[in-house]
Amino acid sequence: MKMIAKMCCAALGAGILAVSGMAQTAATLHVDTTKPLHSVSPMLYGLMTEEINHSYDGGLYAQMVSNHVFRTNWAGVESWGLVRNDNAKAEAAVDKTSGPSAALPTSLKLTVAAASAGNEAGLSNPGYWGMAVRPHTKYAGSFYAKIDGDVGTMTAQLVSDATGAVLAQAAIPLHGGAWSRYNYTLTTGVVASVSAANHLELTVAHAGTVWLQLVTLFPPTYHDRVNGNRADLMEMMAAMHPKFLRLPGGNYLEGDALEDWYDWYKTVGPLVDRPGHMAPWTYWSTDGLGLLEYLEWCEDLKIEPVLAVYAGYSLKNKNGGRPGDHIKPGKDLEPYVQAALDEVEYVTGDVSTKWGAERAKDGHPAPFPLTYVEIGNEDWFDSSHSYDARFAQFAIALRKKYPQLKLITTTPIKVSKEAEPDVLDDHYYKSPAAMFDLVHRYDDAPRSGEKIFVGEWATRSGSPTPNFGDALGDAAWMTGMERNSDLIVMASYAPLFVNVNPGAMQWPTDLIGYDAVRAYGSPSYYAQCMFAAHIGDAVVASDVSGAQDRFFTSATVSEKEHVLHLKLVNASNHAQALTMTLTGAKAGAAKMWTLHAGSFGATNSITEPEAIKPRESVLAVNAAAMRHTVPAYTIEVIDIPVK
Ligand code: AHR
Repeated sequence: MKMIAKMCCAALGAGILAVSGMAQTAATLHVDTTKPLHSVSPMLYGLMTEEINHSYDGGLYAQMVSNHVFRTNWAGVESWGLVRNDNAKAEAAVDKTSGPSAALPTSLKLTVAAASAGNEAGLSNPGYWGMAVRPHTKYAGSFYAKIDGDVGTMTAQLVSDATGAVLAQAAIPLHGGAWSRYNYTLTTGVVASVSAANHLELTVAHAGTVWLQLVTLFPPTYHDRVNGNRADLMEMMAAMHPKFLRLPGGNYLEGDALEDWYDWYKTVGPLVDRPGHMAPWTYWSTDGLGLLEYLEWCEDLKIEPVLAVYAGYSLKNKNGGRPGDHIKPGKDLEPYVQAALDEVEYVTGDVSTKWGAERAKDGHPAPFPLTYVEIGNEDWFDSSHSYDARFAQFAIALRKKYPQLKLITTTPIKVSKEAEPDVLDDHYYKSPAAMFDLVHRYDDAPRSGEKIFVGEWATRSGSPTPNFGDALGDAAWMTGMERNSDLIVMASYAPLFVNVNPGAMQWPTDLIGYDAVRAYGSPSYYAQCMFAAHIGDAVVASDVSGAQDRFFTSATVSEKEHVLHLKLVNASNHAQALTMTLTGAKAGAAKMWTLHAGSFGATNSITEPEAIKPRESVLAVNAAAMRHTVPAYTIEVIDIPVK
């Protein structure tokens, strides 16, 4: 079925215009705002997340202390250093026999042979590529400790790496004996310059032995959540006007080996009961940001989770190769199906249910909304073809208990009627050129089968974040998704985040970059903000003819607001002159947002965060006949009042 109504533009026809000093054939664009073709999916634009590129630990999750559970590698205890001021005598080593909980059965044992005021001994932590210390700010910390001897008080300090200046300090009386939790607050005064070049020190001034575990330090978080998220990154996501969050992955859902699956049970409850797990993107995940924190993240952004449940497939097999291993459908898979049922209950059950009550105990009595559940991730990699049976087993059990849920398959499957999926998740990672070629992918796709969720997509060439060529690919692709949003119910770019410090990234081309202090949006980020902030409820008839190949459009109308949202993407290196007729639009002033750069390679970065960003202007509209030129390498979103 052709989605674009062909219409005659005889009134204006194609003319010759002088543009940018060169003769340019004008294309014609006709939009008929009085002819809705179909509705726009109300959940079209959303977010996809997983622990990759230090998205959570060292990213969104505001915890500043790295390796807060004292894991070791070949070089010793990762991140932590021993502090011995002047004549202090101390050593530190992991004690595998003592910890505050079954989930955290080990600790760091600090043995202080000699220490006194001015000769303190203790530990230091550099954070995740530093610790951002800001003026007049309260930092909330805690740790678990077990004490032997009269160690007195522990001093917590935020210290400047460069000068050794103490930027904030707290004394924490240690009461001796068994494992206890201690809280502390560090409050800064004047801080000469905000940087990441700071660290945390925990020291004592008496001889004795201290076992430490689960050291935390949080800056003020978004919506003041305890164990919450970085405010700047949350605000950036809010500006994208998302409607959902696909969680928790991605490969992160699956894990490299079967035992590394996203075992959600181990990610809820007090932090001390969360063991963490090995994540597929080469580093340990603390699970400080666990299932409830994902849900609260949704709540804070007023969006719905799209919950991906583990479906019994690991990324790799026992020999470390592909295809991965799978759990045999049938009896072996039953515990995982039960885990999915319990997980849905944790999300949606009221407090009278077992897992709803558990969620209430964790601090959130109210259930969360949930419409979509995705079963697995990218199961086309499972060349054993076990997915059809695995999907069916999950689908039948989920439908029986939760008939209202819409179920998402990760690849086309053949299953019985009762197990049929509602939605298919398609993923696209493409170069700019390949993305331009893909824009019409769904124009003629059948409308009779399941709906489409483009659960991961990105134009990829820039690193660590997309460049302007990628933004043009993304904007072009979004015009295609909007035009086909009767079929495409949801779409989410991936990956969302990257910590731009050396060694933090596993996957180049990520939407939002940051370090400990700063964050920035890529040109693709701004393109998404522009598109999602200006989308109507109905796709209306439109037709463009005579334009160059890399020119893309979308026309939707907000029926309530009486606005035509016209999106024009010129990804070529020539200006595109247009003669436009906009049936049903009002003559007068329209608002226009423009994202432009001089080349595909132009980009934003941590040091030049706003080199490319949307500019707002006013465009005079003559609906009956108007000329408009879209400059080369330009994305425009125009809001035009309609009658
Ligand atoms: O987005 C990065 C990875 O790409 C996801 O984890 C996976 O689903 C896909 O292959």
